[in-house]
Amino acid sequence: MASTSFLFLYVLIMFSLAGMAISDLSDDFYDDVCPEALPTIKRVVEDAVRQERRMGASLLRLHFHDCFVNGCDASILLDQTATIDSEKTARANNNSARGFEVIDKIKSEVDKVCGCPVVSCADILTVAARDSVVALHGPTWEVQLGRRDSTTASRTTANNDIPTPVMDLPALIDNFKKQGLDEEDLVALSGGHTLGFAQCFTFRNRIYNDTNIDSTFASQRQANCPRSGGDSNLASLDPTPALFDSKYFSNLISKKGLLHSDQALFSGGDTDNLVKTYSTNLRTFSKDFAESMIKMGNIKPLTGNQGQIRVNCRMVN
Ligand code: HEM
Ligand SMILES: *[C@@H]1O[C@H](CO)[C@@H](O)[C@H](O)[C@H]1NC(C)=O
Ligand SMILES: *[C@@H]1O[C@H](CO)[C@@H](O)[C@H](O)[C@H]1NC(C)=O
Repeated sequence: MASTSFLFLYVLIMFSLAGMAISDLSDDFYDDVCPEALPTIKRVVEDAVRQERRMGASLLRLHFHDCFVNGCDASILLDQTATIDSEKTARANNNSARGFEVIDKIKSEVDKVCGCPVVSCADILTVAARDSVVALHGPTWEVQLGRRDSTTASRTTANNDIPTPVMDLPALIDNFKKQGLDEEDLVALSGGHTLGFAQCFTFRNRIYNDTNIDSTFASQRQANCPRSGGDSNLASLDPTPALFDSKYFSNLISKKGLLHSDQALFSGGDTDNLVKTYSTNLRTFSKDFAESMIKMGNIKPLTGNQGQIRVNCRMVN
């Protein structure tokens, strides 16, 4: 008898340990300790997006680049020091990732309203990404909270794990799979490119060399992205870079994807059908995008007594 109940207890404990990473996140994490935290994040994001619409896109991308490198732990925010291998200079981020000042502003306003640093930088990134999408007329969703901040960063992991714009469909699928994300997540989350801009050097090869591209579109983009020079000249990722809509997908069907990796989602492979669905169904895209954002936001969070709550998002305490 006694040994059966011990076994039961043991199984119970093992189950709760296994489920900890997920179950330690909750949507009411700050409700008692700082009810003003979330409204404060929303207010600063709205102000920033009002000042510059692109900031909404940039904050969304910061969260993505955080989550794909050892989980959503704010590692992307750490500056270079003797002991921190900053991700800010990784290939995908150097002279490209932006919005760090807005995150600093949010952190200082949130800590002020809470009276002490109880809200993690990782949660701030997650909530700011959601609020950015909402500010640009996209869907909303319930963010799971309680992530803690890393004490390390890895430029090498950022270089290895953040997908690149030259990837074809199998490489993209594989890259997302390593994060526990499936093909549907890949297509839905790539829809984040309904917002924001890319620099010439990221799509030059596509507009001069790719064959699955609309020729008028290619010439138009070539006008502001010469064969050499103009590396940082911007083009919008879809025709409406400050509006969350389904044009990113309808554009792919017209062979007007800006990045090689965008067009890869509609070039005769498995994902063509989902691209078609999203291109004419904003509601389905919005619903799937929200679901996949929650999934991405829950990648390997630090919880409980792991990591720390940073006082300054740019450095470990
Ligand atoms: C599927 C693989 C992906 C690749 C290869 C990729 C690649 C890129 C590249 C090359 C840029 C332009 C950066 C620059 O020129 O400075 C960019 C911009 C952007 N990406 Fe992605 N991305 C991917 C997925 C995602 C996901 C999952 C999201 C979010 C859910 C996202 C959100 C954005 C946003 C919003 C921008 C515009 C940022 C701004 O204007 O500041 N991307 N991406
Ligand atoms: C990042 O960009 C800066 C400024 O353009 C450049 O000097 C530096 O070498 C780059 N760092 C890396 C690691 O590529
Ligand atoms: C086009 O492809 C060729 C061969 O791979 C390469 O040498 C060239 O640099 C590419 N052109 C551009 C503008 O990327």
